[in-house]
Amino acid sequence: MSAATVVPLLAHVASLVSEAIVRARPQLAGADPVVRRSDRADFQSNAALSLAKQIGEPPNQLASELTSELSIGDAVIAQVQASGPGFLNITLTDASIWAQLAARLADARLGIGEPAAGQRIVIDYSAPNVAKEMHVGHLRTTIIGDSLARVFTLLGADVVRANHLGDWGTQFGMLIQFIDEHPDQPWHADDIGTDATVSALDGLYKAARAQFDADPEFADRARTRVVALQSGDTTTVDRWREIVAESEKAFGSIYDRLGVLLTPDDYVGESFYNSMLTDTTTELLDKGVAVHSDGAVVVESEHVTGPDDSPAVLMVRKRDGGYGYDSTDLATIRYRTANLHADRLLYVTDSRQTLHFQLIFEAARRAGWLTDAVDVDHVAYGTILGPDGKPFKTRAGGTVRLMDLLDDAVAAARAIVAEKNPDLPAAELDAIAEQAGIGAVKYADLSTSRVKDYMFDPSRMTAFNGNTGVYLQYAHARIRSILRKAGEPDTVAVDTAVTPEPAERALLFTLDEYDLVLAEIAQTLEPHRLANYLYDLARAFTTFYDTCPVLAAREPVRSNRIAVCQLAARTLAHGLGLLGIAAPVRL
Ligand code: ARG
Repeated sequence: MSAATVVPLLAHVASLVSEAIVRARPQLAGADPVVRRSDRADFQSNAALSLAKQIGEPPNQLASELTSELSIGDAVIAQVQASGPGFLNITLTDASIWAQLAARLADARLGIGEPAAGQRIVIDYSAPNVAKEMHVGHLRTTIIGDSLARVFTLLGADVVRANHLGDWGTQFGMLIQFIDEHPDQPWHADDIGTDATVSALDGLYKAARAQFDADPEFADRARTRVVALQSGDTTTVDRWREIVAESEKAFGSIYDRLGVLLTPDDYVGESFYNSMLTDTTTELLDKGVAVHSDGAVVVESEHVTGPDDSPAVLMVRKRDGGYGYDSTDLATIRYRTANLHADRLLYVTDSRQTLHFQLIFEAARRAGWLTDAVDVDHVAYGTILGPDGKPFKTRAGGTVRLMDLLDDAVAAARAIVAEKNPDLPAAELDAIAEQAGIGAVKYADLSTSRVKDYMFDPSRMTAFNGNTGVYLQYAHARIRSILRKAGEPDTVAVDTAVTPEPAERALLFTLDEYDLVLAEIAQTLEPHRLANYLYDLARAFTTFYDTCPVLAAREPVRSNRIAVCQLAARTLAHGLGLLGIAAPVRL
């Protein structure tokens, strides 16, 4: 199969309308042709209405001129009718609609182009903290970031996945001291299993904290250990490395289960920037962006003020000489622009960090690291809520472990799949339940508008009906079963002389819009647009299948419909893939 970009019919018609506008009124060059799908024809354009107003002419006059401009010589347009006060109803030739289907089927990438080719995009996502359990708060960043990484990679971008692990800080000195004083307490993956390492470390950290608060002598030893770590004492640094490595194993096992793209190559934690913090600070001071204040170095915002009307500040270097979260993020943006030469930077974290990133971006602009040639976005998202509608906590009020959450969803999916397929052997049931359960978690997240909060409800998100991952997986599996019954034909000849039924026509247009949706995601960074598109596609398929027999149809209609099924199945599986969701052939 070749790789050829197939221009969506909607985009093609839009450019024809644009050209017609220029021919009719050259002064309107560049105007939006306002082409949409329509239920009166295939497409409609409302351009004449607003453009006529703009140049002070009657809309129906302009509309009728555009109609005659459009009616000449394009193989795609069958008919144009002006209607109402300046609408154009545009009907396409049957042949052009079928040709589109055939062209997409013939292409391994379904005709999707690479509009982001040549762009380097750094996506900062997931970023759990070493020696701490991955919790519900890391779910959204991990799956939203991963989906964006997949979409941009498909669109041709050079994507750098940056997993900004929280692997540095004074807490490690305390933890290392405690671990050394309690050699009997196990925490290595080899001793207790990969999934238990970080919870063991988390427990040791809490115990260390308690002793630190209660026992001044331990607190002193811990402080000495912090200094040892920062000054590169070998045994201390080795121990720190070991803690990081064990934690990374645990993160890796969650990533495997979630099926995200992150690998150890993408781990570029906070510690990576240590060596750059002095230079970053000096540069900010030299450029007059940062100032000394009370022994600390800070950047005072020129735009944002705090509650007492004083400027909001970023802490570049603390009074004690230490560096923190702000310092490191200033270093990330400097490094990613200057060293990685990124064209676009995305930081995927929850909405509560909006101010932090606003200040980081402002400082980076003032320092000249960020220019107009670089796009930067804080890809903010809402909170996952528990059944009580409040931020999700365990019954005891603790943080919810990500693994437990996934287990709950897989159990819910297992029950639902078993009910539908009572004869499924246990091993197969387990495999499908895992794909359905994980898919359901990801879909529930990615189908919600990013900025909104949503409730984590395993039984709702694994339902077979409604806008769920399971519904889409099922829709895909059902089409695959039709194709199995058709004998899994490899390529089928599409006869462009057939007139598609209305439901078939609607489905074909929906299939043809797939890459427009992907382009929108590249713009808006909103994967829910893809989720909703796939849901619409699955429903359009159902309407088609209810009214248009496939296997029982006569040739050449039968072959054409098999081709429709093929493109529908491939588009669904492909789209689910971009959401990081499996598309099993049976469910
Ligand atoms: N480690 C942080 C946390 O768990 C998230 C880091 C996000 N990325 C960044 N560059 N600040 O909340």
